[in-house]
Amino acid sequence: MKQRTLVVVSAGLSQPSSTRLLADQLSAAAVTAAAERGIELHVRTIELRDLAHDIMNHLLTGFPPVALKEALDAVAGADGLIAVSPIFTASYSGLFKSFFDVVDKDALADKPVLIAATAGTARHSLALEHALRPLFGYLRAVVVPTSVFAASDDWGADSSDGFLQTRIVRGATELATEIDRREPATVADPFALTVSFEDLLK
Ligand SMILES: Cc1cc2nc3c(=O)[nH]c(=O)nc-3n(C[C@H](O)[C@H](O)[C@H](O)COP(=O)(O)O)c2cc1C
Repeated sequence: MKQRTLVVVSAGLSQPSSTRLLADQLSAAAVTAAAERGIELHVRTIELRDLAHDIMNHLLTGFPPVALKEALDAVAGADGLIAVSPIFTASYSGLFKSFFDVVDKDALADKPVLIAATAGTARHSLALEHALRPLFGYLRAVVVPTSVFAASDDWGADSSDGFLQTRIVRGATELATEIDRREPATVADPFALTVSFEDLLK
């Protein structure tokens, strides 16, 4: 089986968080879809709530504290990314945006990304298309066509039409297909010698 890594970024603030619930359902569906393609997906979930102070310190000082640096490295080294934000004031949350503000501008280039959001009302579902998709487009990520939006009503007993579940499986399948298409992600070492040591000695 091929081995690949999936990083899941969840920006929910509540505890328990509906954003985290959606993130977990998406990653479980991605693991299943990847397994069907002969890929063992190793999942690492990052709760931005735990990194909120570090993200602000990084913005103020220009240096990431250790835990944030580790999360940023995980994102850069991932073969695929699931990014889930709560909708705040008709867009992604400030915490979600601030995290991606400190991700290196080249870290997501050609990386498959599945975008998703939770919200109080279905009226703001297009925030995925007018806010999250352009953000990841700017970062040159490959955002899969299906985005997954879950309003409060989608979690209720009345939502048994399976619409949300269908989109979760479709988005996760598209993500697994993109991961399958690619070689494992590699991260360029900024300290690597570009000239051999022998040539340097000459
Ligand atoms: C400051 C704030 C602004 C919000 N703005 C919106 C909004 O514009 N549209 C909407 O549908 N829901 C809005 N919500 C509701 C959240 O998107 C929703 O409760 C979300 O699922 C919370 O995610 P969590 O449970 O992971 O914290 C807002 C919530 C907060 C706290």
